[in-house]
Amino acid sequence: MKIVVIGGTGLIGSKLVKMLHEHGHEAVAASPDTGVNTLTGEGLADALKGASVVVDVSNSPAWDDAAVMKFFETSTRNLLTYEAAAGVRHHVALSVVGTDRLSESGYMRAKIAQEKLIKGSSIPWSIVHATQFFEFLKGLADISTDGSKVRLPHVLFQPMAADDVASALAKIAAGPPVNGTVEIGGPEQFRLDDLVRRRLAALKDPREVIADPKALYSGAKLGERTLVPGNDARLGQTTFETWLIQSGGKIPSAKSPAA
Ligand SMILES: NC(=O)c1ccc[n+]([C@@H]2O[C@H](COP(=O)([O-])OP(=O)(O)OC[C@H]3O[C@@H](n4cnc5c(N)ncnc54)[C@H](OP(=O)(O)O)[C@@H]3O)[C@@H](O)[C@H]2O)c1
Repeated sequence: MKIVVIGGTGLIGSKLVKMLHEHGHEAVAASPDTGVNTLTGEGLADALKGASVVVDVSNSPAWDDAAVMKFFETSTRNLLTYEAAAGVRHHVALSVVGTDRLSESGYMRAKIAQEKLIKGSSIPWSIVHATQFFEFLKGLADISTDGSKVRLPHVLFQPMAADDVASALAKIAAGPPVNGTVEIGGPEQFRLDDLVRRRLAALKDPREVIADPKALYSGAKLGERTLVPGNDARLGQTTFETWLIQSGGKIPSAKSPAA
């Protein structure tokens, strides 16, 4: 099966392309790096020729509210139009657990807009809601830094390894469209401030992490369970400790501003 991975050069995309190849699919990485730009439509018609499935794991390169909204709205519209013309039979997109509960965040409003376009299109679809990636913990500290302190609420948190995100996506992309949302998450629950503190300690990052009930996440207030998936979520196997050992303290790229 030909499966085009939009954002196939990114953190999740590059893992997904490799896994799909290993499973015997013709997986094509599509991104500006490979001559495909969903914002302008450049290269899309060629990339989608003969494709059965498209998996969108792209992310906006610019992080302010207006730019993120423009990215997800324009890219998704273009993508769905080109997919319809090419006869694509399944559109899979990666989004974030709790998106609808996080609409105070400009980034999440853009993800909500992306999802709405997918649900209203003629292409059968599957939306995958993932919890935050372990690879994003340092980025999360960076967007929550105030001077030399990182402020985060002491709420429940169930992040997962990017490898487990990619393998869940690979299964869903190879299966029938669910025309619904599938939640995926990590195997353990933590407190948000505790885990970011542990991640910074492992990186020997001197920033102090303060539990602050008023601190926002990407501009949104968090409740105790806002970031936690429901009981039906499919859980990855990689624990935080295993991931820490495997990643050897390196900071793999997860450029996502907010998710
Ligand atoms: N971070 C988290 O914890 C988290 C949690 C849940 C869900 N998510 C979602 O996961 C998705 C992927 O995140 P990621 O960390 O893997 O992203 P990433 O590493 O930042 O990769 C982004 C990808 O998007 C591509 N891209 C950028 N502009 C494009 C354009 N105009 N046309 C086509 N492709 C374009 C990039 O291509 P180039 O390399 O060519 O620039 C790159 O391949 C995002 O949608 C995010 O919302 C993230």
